[in-house]
Amino acid sequence: MSRKLQLLQQSPSKVIIVKVGILGCGAIANIITNFAAEGKLGVDLEFFYDRDMERAENLASQVDGTVVLNIEDLLDRVDLVIETASPQAVKEIVPQILERGKDVIVMSVGALLDHELMSNLKKIAQEHDSRIYVPSGAIVGLDGVKSASIGKIQKISLITRKNPKSLGISAETETVLYEGKAGDAVEKFPMNINVAATLSIACGKEVDVKIIADPNVDRNSHEVHMIGDFGELKTTTHNMRCSINPKTSVLAAYSAIKLLKSLNENFQIGT
Ligand SMILES: NC(=O)c1ccc[n+]([C@@H]2O[C@H](COP(=O)([O-])OP(=O)(O)OC[C@H]3O[C@@H](n4cnc5c(N)ncnc54)[C@H](O)[C@@H]3O)[C@@H](O)[C@H]2O)c1
Repeated sequence: MSRKLQLLQQSPSKVIIVKVGILGCGAIANIITNFAAEGKLGVDLEFFYDRDMERAENLASQVDGTVVLNIEDLLDRVDLVIETASPQAVKEIVPQILERGKDVIVMSVGALLDHELMSNLKKIAQEHDSRIYVPSGAIVGLDGVKSASIGKIQKISLITRKNPKSLGISAETETVLYEGKAGDAVEKFPMNINVAATLSIACGKEVDVKIIADPNVDRNSHEVHMIGDFGELKTTTHNMRCSINPKTSVLAAYSAIKLLKSLNENFQIGT
């Protein structure tokens, strides 16, 4: 074993994040809270905020947590907030979190395709020494996409295929709902553009997106194709849908949990 690795393993853990709050108590928050209730989150998930109080109360009761009436009420008491709400919450509430010097995990990544909002959030984070984390969400291979983007990228595309129910529509045959740049789809598909947004931000290039409603599939699938001076990558992810919200994939919630756990670990793997 190398001396550097030995030192890494021997040094005591530096705990960065202790107390965590949740903004938006829906499908993803439910999965995260279940992990916390089983003692598998590695941090104290204590505060819950949702514009629907009943949802916040349901989750808080699972971990003996506290419901807050507005985001201000939790900001002095947490190290980090997990945003699992909506693009609107990213615009209106995430700036307040960062201004208070608190870190945030953003799940509603589509909102960050708004360049003005993105640069404003980065500026606030820099001024207040806070951090914005974006988990890999509902796809695999983001580590490779990030590494590949160090070089030149010729092409990056995404085909998202979902059952019409997951897209909130009805269609009896396979139907292409959208084909074009990620940024142009934000208004039309705010809840289905997170993967395209994550990919675009990770590689610094707007992804070409195709969104297909397919009554023959049960899982939410994402095919990524990237060509660059690194070579070529193709990934396919077939996701289990969340029972509470079929638009959302279980893997997205797991990626937030894994990211949160990794923040306090002194051994990091993957880009
Ligand atoms: N990054 C990814 O890969 C990925 C994958 C799936 C979902 N998402 C996104 O994550 C977010 C959460 O997903 P979900 O399936 O848990 O959603 P959900 O609809 O099940 O739950 C969202 C909850 O947030 C609350 N909420 C919404 N806006 C709010 C606001 N401004 N203030 C307070 N509460 C608010 C709602 O009342 C609801 O309880 C969505 O924006 C979704 O598009 C991202």
